[in-house]
Amino acid sequence: METWPNETVPRISQPPRRPLGVIVRGSLARGLEMKLAPNCPVEDLRAGRLVVVEGRSHVFYALITNVTLSAISDKLVLNPPAEDDAFLRRVLEGTGAYVTVELRPMLMAPAQSATAPTPADLMPVRTVPNHFSTVVNATQQDVASVFGQESDKGFYRIGSPVEMDDAAVCLNLERFVERSNGIFGKSGTGKTFLTRICLAGIIKHDVAVNLVLDMHNEYGWAGSSEDRDRREVRGLKQLFDNRVEIFTLDPDSSRQRSVPYATPVQIPYSELTIDDVILLKDELNLNDTAVETANILVNAFDKQWLERLVDPAMTAQAIKEFCDQNGAHPQAVNALQRKLRNLVHRCKGFLLPNGKGSQTEEPTAIADIISLLKESRHVVLEFGHYTDPVQYMLVANILARRIHDQWVQDTEASMGQKKPPPRHLVITIEEAHKFLSPALARQTIFGTIAREMRKYNVTLLVVDQRPSGIDTEILSQLGTKLVCLLDDDHDIQAVLSGISGASSLAGVLATLDTKQQALILGHAVPMPVVVRTRTYDDDLFRKEMLPDASGEAADLDPDRDF
Ligand SMILES: Nc1ncnc2c1ncn2[C@@H]1O[C@H](COP(=O)(O)OP(=O)(O)OP(=O)(O)O)[C@@H](O)[C@H]1O
Ligand SMILES: [Mg+2]
Repeated sequence: METWPNETVPRISQPPRRPLGVIVRGSLARGLEMKLAPNCPVEDLRAGRLVVVEGRSHVFYALITNVTLSAISDKLVLNPPAEDDAFLRRVLEGTGAYVTVELRPMLMAPAQSATAPTPADLMPVRTVPNHFSTVVNATQQDVASVFGQESDKGFYRIGSPVEMDDAAVCLNLERFVERSNGIFGKSGTGKTFLTRICLAGIIKHDVAVNLVLDMHNEYGWAGSSEDRDRREVRGLKQLFDNRVEIFTLDPDSSRQRSVPYATPVQIPYSELTIDDVILLKDELNLNDTAVETANILVNAFDKQWLERLVDPAMTAQAIKEFCDQNGAHPQAVNALQRKLRNLVHRCKGFLLPNGKGSQTEEPTAIADIISLLKESRHVVLEFGHYTDPVQYMLVANILARRIHDQWVQDTEASMGQKKPPPRHLVITIEEAHKFLSPALARQTIFGTIAREMRKYNVTLLVVDQRPSGIDTEILSQLGTKLVCLLDDDHDIQAVLSGISGASSLAGVLATLDTKQQALILGHAVPMPVVVRTRTYDDDLFRKEMLPDASGEAADLDPDRDF
């Protein structure tokens, strides 16, 4: 299916552009080398800038990946002009001493004079431009030719190319949600802001429904900002009103933060399965026999297994009798009991014995979340003070499992009965490496979702500061990656593995600003690009998000009880 727009971008007549330089060397494998024009100041060039190489029959869209100072002779290097000899310096600049710029061409299109290339004309780079082809800065129109325009259906502005504030880099949102995606970057680089921007786009363009597992309470009602002039930004509920529902595991925390309309979530013990035990193996320091032991308990007590195990009635004597009857090891059961008692204690605010709190066996809040998602209502689940990874992973896993089952069932039903398939769902998780580490990715539900749930219309949006902790197969299957500054070599290597020209992009990644800049690559953009991400929740953003375009925040009463 062709989802890039096809209309012709009219070529606005523009004055010839001042050349940045000419191509002097190059190869398909290593990229191109440009000699900088003598009148171009080298300090104006920065890695990641988008440039256009005007070949004879093709234009090439390329990124600057490196800048080098060169000299034609070693003599010059050994005897540089004196500090006060401005004249000689000027004479040598660009001749004896010159600058070469490495370019990585990413796309090419036939050069046409009447119209600018459209996204349909773009093709992978299969050759190099002629010797001495001119290189110019990209214009707004070039950016539109490559990335589409905001007015195209499903195209959403995510930011501007570096040093081109007037141009828009758009994500093709239909393509974005088709696969699982990743937002990476070290702490404080803007991952959460960028994630909120993506989620707002998905909601605004109605391409999927979102479930956000909001570990730090930043997505639902309000998020905090390091910006001194503005400590708080609106969450999705304030932007999209009744299209977004907030649930909370910690009603006290929601109340303290004056979050209106947060529905409390409680989870009965019976929701815990072996899958959760496997996921929490490291966190709870469980040994290898723990999973086997839990299996024996499940065989004996079915859904009541956890409740029976942690019950005070399960004394050492009772354990011994149980083991005699079921072939388990008392020591192993004791150890599992101790650790799971600790788990239920840590989660006691929201994890309840089956009888208590929930009248029926059915965990109502979880069922409510699932039916809202099926009705295309977006759900943010706040964790309040429960920010311990164990708590986060447990709840995320329980919810994801229920969703998995429901979506598989609905997809299969739709195939049999020719009903429409279930709504496309995007699940946002933070600290993704904890769920998708090599040890866990093969065994747990998040691994399954990342690997195969695309067929069932469920994908992940993983947000993480340590991508090297994620299983490489999962990383390589991510459709689009939005990568803010990373400085650890393992992390850089991990996000770029399997990508052509990875080494030159690694250089670009390491030179990003510490905030609000990202390298975007993959399925939702035709070529890798460095953007300054748009500012979240400024006047322009609000105007675009709110349906009546008034820019007024939703008329919600923050004092209302819930
Ligand atoms: N797109 C943006 N619009 C406005 N401000 C931004 C944007 N991106 C980053 N910032 C600024 O940078 C700060 C850090 O961003 P953010 O909280 O998203 O970082 P993070 O990568 O999620 O950090 P952590 O790993 O600690 O969660 C924000 O508080 C905000 O002030
Ligand atoms: Mg964050």
